[in-house]
Formats: sequence, C-alpha cells, structure tokens
Amino acid sequence: MNDTTPADPPADSPADPPAVVGTIAELRARVAEARAGGASVAFVPTMGALHDGHLALVARARELAELVVVSIFVNPLQFGPNEDLERYPRTLDADVAALRGTGTALVFAPAVDEMYPHGPTQTRIVAGEVGGLYEGASRPGHFDGMLTVVAKLYHIVQPDVAVFGQKDAQQVHLVRRMVRELDFPLDIEVVETVREADGLALSSRNRFLGEPERRTALVLSEALAAAAAAAPQGAQEALAEAVAAFGDHDGAELDYFVIVDPDTFLPVADDAAGPALALVAARVGATRLIDNRRVVLG
Ligand code: PAF
Repeated sequence: MNDTTPADPPADSPADPPAVVGTIAELRARVAEARAGGASVAFVPTMGALHDGHLALVARARELAELVVVSIFVNPLQFGPNEDLERYPRTLDADVAALRGTGTALVFAPAVDEMYPHGPTQTRIVAGEVGGLYEGASRPGHFDGMLTVVAKLYHIVQPDVAVFGQKDAQQVHLVRRMVRELDFPLDIEVVETVREADGLALSSRNRFLGEPERRTALVLSEALAAAAAAAPQGAQEALAEAVAAFGDHDGAELDYFVIVDPDTFLPVADDAAGPALALVAARVGATRLIDNRRVVLG
C-alpha cells in the first residue's frame, strides 16, 4: 500500500462532492460495493473542522487507494469532563465542501447515538503506560477513548490503509502500537505536519485564537526550533533552551516539553544521542495546543 503511484480514479469523478453517510449499515454496504468492484480502501479519521492539514491526509489517501473514506465524528469518549467537547467546532457542511474535488468518495458522519446507541461503550482499548504520559497525563482517559473509537471505526470501514498526521505524534505512536499488538489487518501511513508560513502547526483549535494569541502561539514552534538547535549539546541543554523560549511569552502557559525516544515514546536519558522527538503542549488563552519536531541529540 505504500506505492506512491496515483491510484485509478474512482467510478465517480473526483470533482463530485462526496456522499455523506450517517449509518454504519450504509457505510458498510457502500464500501462492500466498491470492494466488489476491485477498489482498495484508504481511511482518514477526523473530528471535522477540516483544514489544509486534513486535506494533506486526504491527498495521501488518494495516492494509496481507489476509494477514500473520511470520517467526521467528534468522539465524546476522548474528552474529559472539563474539556472542550461542547465547544469543539462542528462544521459538517463546510467540511463536505472542502472535500469536494479531493477524490473523497464517502464521508462517514454518524451521530453519537449511531456510534454509541447504548451510551458510552463499556468495552475500551487501554492505551497503557505511554497512554498516561504527556497528553494522557493532562487529559486522563483521552487515549483510551481515542483508541476505542479508532478501533471501532476500523471495524466499520475495514480499510487497507489509514492515514494520520504527525502533529498528533503520541496518537500516531499509540495507534501504530494497537494495530501491531492487536493484529489489525491494515497499514498506517503518517503525513508530515502542515504549517503556516510562520511555523504555526495547523490545528482545528487555531480558530479559537484571537490575533494576539495567534502570535503568542508561535512560541510552540519557536521552542521546538530552540530545542533542535541545542540538541547537539544534549537533551538537558535542548530542554533548557526550549523552556527559556517560553519565558519570553507571557500569554502562554507551558504544560510539558519533553524529548522522547521515537520507538518507545519514553523520555530519553540525559546522555542519549541520536534521533529523538521533542513534544510540546501549552495553553494559549483558553486554547490548548500541541506540536512536535524531530531532533538529533549529540
Ligand atoms: O485526531 C483526531 O482527530 C481524533 O483523535 C481521531 C483519530 C479522529 C479519533 O477520534
């Protein structure tokens, strides 16, 4: 599935708007029909409020398979009681319009009752030790809820490949591990973070930032750049430079800045050398943002 040769166009023209499907039964029937015609299936799970970062995932999906399915579902299981579930943007019409011409054949946009007809599922995927760190420490239960809905969506769509964004690096790590450990029969493809010209990583939550906050939010990518520049001097130096970058920005409250081993996702030792991943989360006003960057420790 990692062949980059563009797939043949689907039966309908890629310029057509995608069909919006609200039920599991209809989604399964339409995917089965496409498969019977020989189509492979690429899946892009999203919570909507689509931006160019999502469209990059869709473009990659379109390169990998004939049928592209995008899900739009704000999953209550991955929000804590004091988080922004109610405030999370829901922009289905605009999202479907944005997907027009991208080659997306199906948008799966179920209601909460369709996904969880008996209330929140009693059965959950447990994200384990790494699921309780970083994002998981700030958002208890988030990754269990995320993995549970991703597993459920895989069973509904049954794709050959699912496409995720590197911006949610911890999510990608946990999804890859779930797929490997539980033998899900699909490939995971990861697409680089899409950024504004000034370095701000695209996020559905950026729309909550007013103009001064938008400028303050640049501290995340600046801290990551400072860490990357200092990484040849070692992990402690890189962390010190990153934290110092936050010292210059009053409006940003650092949640965590950590350098992890890309394979285990555990913090690196002070004397670690070689490729690593720097992760940052911060609150800018009422908006929580995350970002990450590869660094090479000396
Ligand atoms: O990254 C997201 O938007 C969500 O965590 C996902 C993967 C769609 C699951 O709800």
